Amino acid sequence: MKILITGADGQLGWELRRVVPGGVELTTCNSAELDITNGGLVDEVVSRLSPEIIINAAAYTAVDKAENEAERAMAVNRDGVAHLAAAAGAVGAGVIHVSTDFVFDGCHYRPYLPEDTPHPTGIYGESKLAGERMLLEKCPDAAIIRTAWVYSAHGNNFVKTMLRLMAERDELGVVADQIGSPTWAAGLAQALWQLAAEKLTGIYHWTDAGVASWYDFACAIQEEALRLGILRREAVIRPLRSEDYPTLARRPPYSVLDKTILWEKFGVAAPHWRLNLKKMLAELKNV
Ligand SMILES: NC(=O)c1ccc[n+]([C@@H]2O[C@H](COP(=O)([O-])OP(=O)(O)OC[C@H]3O[C@@H](n4cnc5c(N)ncnc54)[C@H](OP(=O)(O)O)[C@@H]3O)[C@@H](O)[C@H]2O)c1
Repeated sequence: MKILITGADGQLGWELRRVVPGGVELTTCNSAELDITNGGLVDEVVSRLSPEIIINAAAYTAVDKAENEAERAMAVNRDGVAHLAAAAGAVGAGVIHVSTDFVFDGCHYRPYLPEDTPHPTGIYGESKLAGERMLLEKCPDAAIIRTAWVYSAHGNNFVKTMLRLMAERDELGVVADQIGSPTWAAGLAQALWQLAAEKLTGIYHWTDAGVASWYDFACAIQEEALRLGILRREAVIRPLRSEDYPTLARRPPYSVLDKTILWEKFGVAAPHWRLNLKKMLAELKNV
């Protein structure tokens, strides 16, 4: 199977490269090699490589910055996806695209189904939703996986920020009224490879199992990091309300995704987020 991965140096792109299954002829492009906002370049690269499937791991992911950079967020997350979809259509390639829990407003308080009506609360979510719609319009047979709270040993993310703050400070506050599912990018990458092998199409949800607030997640990060010797002393972690930690973008208060359909199709559920957190921290320690 000939596969092209875009955004190959991001958290997910990096994990996709680490767990390439046998029988895949892989080409990877980072943002410098293939800027997906450049439609002409996307056409040229895709027609030259003629992949069977494009896995799009490229995205503008700066949720707060997006509020002041709407044009850039739309250029990457909407127009970039449209370029990939058009180029894929021209060579008959499939597209697997990754989207986000932020397409929902988080006011439901029950896990979101793939068919629930999206209602983003910020520019990032709007741009990702616009990308989903562009893709399905141009490539109805594409697959979209929405995921959430992604972290990896590679790149910047909540886990690494918490480890830094816990090492630097005696005390920190973490939001306790936003609920979601922390997701290790390595597990997500494996799910995407399975999706590619089974040639599934449509919209799916994938995260690790279980739910947590950012506060719960931070406490777990500290416990595991102390146990592994990554941290040497305990910081006091205080639960905060969202209103005590204002951010430019409003986050969904409840962004748990219902994964039942994909878990049934794969015949296996993702592991609990805490198990994957332990694996990622063990890896980080060795790095
Ligand atoms: N991170 C999360 O918590 C989270 C949650 C839900 C969904 N998602 C989705 O999951 C997917 C993967 O996210 P991630 O965590 O791996 O993000 P990431 O680490 O920020 O990686 C995104 C990659 O896209 C590249 N990129 C940005 N603009 C580009 C462009 N114009 N052309 C080509 N590449 C470009 C970036 O390169 P540069 O660094 O060089 O700009 C970066 O390597 C994204 O679709 C994201 O929306 C992520």
